[in-house]
Amino acid sequence: MLLPQFIREGGAALEALYPPQEARSLILRLCSEVLGTQSYTHIVEPSYEIPEEKLPRLYDAVSRMVQGEPLQYVTGVQEFCGRKFRVAPGVLIPRPETEMLVAGATQHLRLLLNPLGPPVQGEDLPRCPRGPHTSPVESATVLDLFTGSGCIAWSIALDVPGTRVTGVDISGAALAVARSQTFPDAAGAPGAVEFVLQDVLEVPDNFAGAPFDVITANPPYIRESEKAAMHRNVLEYEPSLALFVPDEDPMLFYRAVAHWSIRFLKPGGWGIVEINEELGAETAAVFESAGLVQVKKHLDLFGKERFVSFEKVV
Ligand SMILES: C[S@@+](CC[C@H](N)C(=O)[O-])C[C@H]1O[C@@H](n2cnc3c(N)ncnc32)[C@H](O)[C@@H]1O
Repeated sequence: MLLPQFIREGGAALEALYPPQEARSLILRLCSEVLGTQSYTHIVEPSYEIPEEKLPRLYDAVSRMVQGEPLQYVTGVQEFCGRKFRVAPGVLIPRPETEMLVAGATQHLRLLLNPLGPPVQGEDLPRCPRGPHTSPVESATVLDLFTGSGCIAWSIALDVPGTRVTGVDISGAALAVARSQTFPDAAGAPGAVEFVLQDVLEVPDNFAGAPFDVITANPPYIRESEKAAMHRNVLEYEPSLALFVPDEDPMLFYRAVAHWSIRFLKPGGWGIVEINEELGAETAAVFESAGLVQVKKHLDLFGKERFVSFEKVV
């Protein structure tokens, strides 16, 4: 079969579930993953013949996607911060907005490791609490709570050499995926990331690797009552454990993060969490009332309150 025909027919099949533009974009991404084609190959090479042996995988993929299964579970990968992460049912598919949390954390860590480095551009960007007159540190430690696929943990460890990251999650399935990640640049950072099975709601007295310079967290934050507005492929395929928090206590996980931060951050340590865009003030109040300082809300690319950062007093 010719590539343009497959794109046409596959896109049309997916239009039962997705708007036409999105359906087409999903088919192009599928082809890119399975055939290694570019988003324009069918235009510049209209006579591109799909190799016979690839067709069963492509047909199978389309029929799974027509049932509502996300493309990322079908192909087993999702790009995040420039790397391809393995994903599987049982683990949340990393979202683009979470890349901003990683950008904030890596910028903070770079300043920590090299306080005299080039000045940081922008107004809303997190600042290094050590200030510009302190000596550089050679390594930094990060605790990534609710680590899931390990997308935050791996991205920070590989983007900021000298950083050691511990990822924590309650799901054995998620941790199996997090541990299975392989990246071309990971060989240069052996042991930079490790994962621990642990319920974050149970704050231990001691934790290996503590105290940490930075805490990151992307906890479940969607209230059960928000389910009605969500797409079927998220509700039916992604793990509820990764998504939802009870309506009657949406701050449950943030109180736990605040607790871990007070107990396991170094004095002057810094943290950043992803939040429900409708609960910015409530989330900031959780960290303030726990005794954390410099509590700030940050917007995502769509102008929504998506992150809260904080510091532990020196
Ligand atoms: C929103 S997902 C975040 C995954 C990943 N960090 C990301 O940004 O894509 C939340 C994660 O929290 C985990 N989780 C839910 N309840 C937990 C708990 N009580 N303790 C630890 N992890 C929990 C889920 O298994 C899931 O992997």
